[in-house]
Amino acid sequence: MGPETFLPFDLLIVGAGMYVCGKGTQGYGTILPTAFEAWRKGWIKTIHLAAATQKSAALARKKSEALMKMTGMTPDIRFYPENEDDPAAYLAALKRISRPCGAIVSVPDNLHFNITKDLIERKVHVQVVKPLVSTIDENRELIALKNKHEVYGCVEYHKRFDESNLKLLDLIRKETLGELLHFRINYSQRKIIPTTTFRSWVDTTNIFQYLGVHYVDLIAFLTHAAPLRVMSVGMKKYLSGRGIDTFDTIQTLIEWQLPEDKKTFLSSHFTGWIDPDTSTAMSDQRLEVIGTKGRYHSDQKDRGVTLTTDSLGCEQINPYFCQFYNDIDGKHLKIDGYGPESILQFIKDSADIINGIKRVSDMAGLRATFESSLCISEVLEASEKSLAENNGWVQIG
Ligand SMILES: NC(=O)c1ccc[n+]([C@@H]2O[C@H](COP(=O)([O-])OP(=O)(O)OC[C@H]3O[C@@H](n4cnc5c(N)ncnc54)[C@H](O)[C@@H]3O)[C@@H](O)[C@H]2O)c1
Repeated sequence: MGPETFLPFDLLIVGAGMYVCGKGTQGYGTILPTAFEAWRKGWIKTIHLAAATQKSAALARKKSEALMKMTGMTPDIRFYPENEDDPAAYLAALKRISRPCGAIVSVPDNLHFNITKDLIERKVHVQVVKPLVSTIDENRELIALKNKHEVYGCVEYHKRFDESNLKLLDLIRKETLGELLHFRINYSQRKIIPTTTFRSWVDTTNIFQYLGVHYVDLIAFLTHAAPLRVMSVGMKKYLSGRGIDTFDTIQTLIEWQLPEDKKTFLSSHFTGWIDPDTSTAMSDQRLEVIGTKGRYHSDQKDRGVTLTTDSLGCEQINPYFCQFYNDIDGKHLKIDGYGPESILQFIKDSADIINGIKRVSDMAGLRATFESSLCISEVLEASEKSLAENNGWVQIG
């Protein structure tokens, strides 16, 4: 099918928070700017953005007007709810959409399941921000449902698109590091996340579920190993002293088994969200892999770019995740990075399915499918159990 007959589809974004449009920040988030890029590429026709409240929808409208100025792009965008606050505004939006449709779900973790289910039942291809869900049963139900309705379902695990991780994938596949022994991950964020940004839903998640899952997915993606057992220990000091009953930090140990030779290795995950708000980046993250023949060390915070200003002090910038850059004509800005890439891939895949260029069953390879999230749900359930039951090992399966 040539570009002249390519049918762009309508994109529904559910949620209007920090990750969608930069709510509570000076920025514009990741999902909405990426939708602009997809529009520029001709993959989508209209963007529908469904929040739960009029106030959130109004803020998203303001952010998109500013984005139009910056990028020179003028996509058709409709905002919901239109008349009164409505947590089901995404369903009202779907009723207004007369073209084929794909959706990106970016709402608090505990709402992922019901909203994703509603969308799949209406035959909408869907990408959900991580974690897909937090239980094995919900994960299985979503897999069965998307198979029944023959739609594509994936999770927005963008670390799979980061070239520093793709380099590691290649090293592991070629066995350059020898036999795998340990993965060691340090991943933490500033206090502002639990105390302000996620204050309204912080009690429904924990720091391992919110941040830790990124690297659980990455390890499964890199090695194809299955988690065998999980142990977690948490500390409560700072947040609990401020009326937020959640762990400041969690340390999790996972034993994994490789599919071919059944050999095992370990991963240890330190996750936290009480870094000082003055830290030099929102996320502090380091990954170390130790094998019998080599080590891989990846500082995913210090990417070598530091900006120091009178107003904001010292900032370490990740130029590879999600940034605005000048477009080739030098007049406007475009958005690029491994975050947008992960979302654009979903949008392109959906467009290809809708246009009959690919089938839902082709959606495999390096993609973060709902099936690939099953082992994450297993780890999350086991970790919860360990935290609740004296921090011992919890077997999986
Ligand atoms: N992949 C990443 O790097 C990354 C980063 C941040 C957040 N996230 C994930 O994205 C999701 C949202 O996070 P956020 O940072 O935008 O949170 P947020 O608290 O800033 O925003 C959540 C938004 O969801 C909206 N919402 C709630 N119920 C809704 C409903 N029924 N319909 C439509 N909108 C509804 C709220 O109004 C709010 O605007 C979470 O699951 C989080 O874990 C992922």
